[in-house]
Amino acid sequence: MLQILTSRGALQSVPMTPDAEGGRTTTPEKFDGRVALVTGASSGIGRATARALAAGGAQVIVADVDLDAGEDTARAIRAEGGTAHFIACDVADPEQVRALLERTVATCGHLDILINNAGISGGAQRLHELEVDDWDRVMAVNLRGPFLCAKYALPHLMDRRGTIVNVASTYGLIGAPQAPAYCASKGGVINLTRQLAVDYGPSGVRVNAVCPGYVDTDMGGQRGRLPPQQAAAALERRESNAARQPLGRQAHVDEVARVVVFLASGASSFMTGSIVTVDGGCTSTFNYN
Ligand SMILES: NC(=O)c1ccc[n+]([C@@H]2O[C@H](COP(=O)([O-])OP(=O)(O)OC[C@H]3O[C@@H](n4cnc5c(N)ncnc54)[C@H](O)[C@@H]3O)[C@@H](O)[C@H]2O)c1
Repeated sequence: MLQILTSRGALQSVPMTPDAEGGRTTTPEKFDGRVALVTGASSGIGRATARALAAGGAQVIVADVDLDAGEDTARAIRAEGGTAHFIACDVADPEQVRALLERTVATCGHLDILINNAGISGGAQRLHELEVDDWDRVMAVNLRGPFLCAKYALPHLMDRRGTIVNVASTYGLIGAPQAPAYCASKGGVINLTRQLAVDYGPSGVRVNAVCPGYVDTDMGGQRGRLPPQQAAAALERRESNAARQPLGRQAHVDEVARVVVFLASGASSFMTGSIVTVDGGCTSTFNYN
């Protein structure tokens, strides 16, 4: 038996699960009977993660501000034989997040996995050029979002000894040019990850983060909003930055999703408070740009 601290602060004895035994008795990537909530799952890394969790047997809640793409992700998962529901939610809004968690549990019965993935880059400026509203919006989505989702998810996760995976960034580990709000927000997510690991480990909830480097997504639809020539130039700049990193290319979304799924699974049962880079070596080299 295992002693855990419940959401109501009481000590409770519970049977050892395969998770607590080190994942020895289960196929780690199997999520049958588990419920996963993925924010920002309409596109990019979130969509790839939602698909991978559903392929492993999880019921997946796709949460996003992009309604059409969110419905499309859920439809794609169902077409692949998985179970998914889309719920519209702005993760920066406390009422919407509270309602998201209520609907998740009402729809699926419980919650085992929270993937805090929704994020925005906020454009490229040095700090003295940055508008206060732009700073606030990046902080609201990238840092308040994970706080709010964790706040309303944790009572459910404690009941199930669930897990949280935060999608941070290499930009939260180092200073990157012209990204003051983004770097600060992701640095906040990284230390929030460690702090939550400390407070909720005794309740059986693991909290980890991944730090992707350059990933081949159209983050925030930015390139989509640019005139074609500027969009092509932005893509070229990004690819040439990625080419200077040790692995010499951007990551495919699945290469990040696989690590997120590992951290959400019993295969990582002794990991909590871990900050895992998935960056093609870019934070290992001096040639950072
Ligand atoms: N692409 C990269 O190179 C890269 C690198 C490091 C970290 N990341 C992080 O990965 C995560 C996913 O980014 P991506 O690259 O897949 O970009 P993406 O733009 O494809 O996906 C982000 C998703 O978040 C959603 N979103 C934005 N604001 C939201 C809000 N307020 N509420 C709910 N959903 C919202 C968007 O609609 C979108 O579907 C982000 O947290 C990002 O910071 C990306």
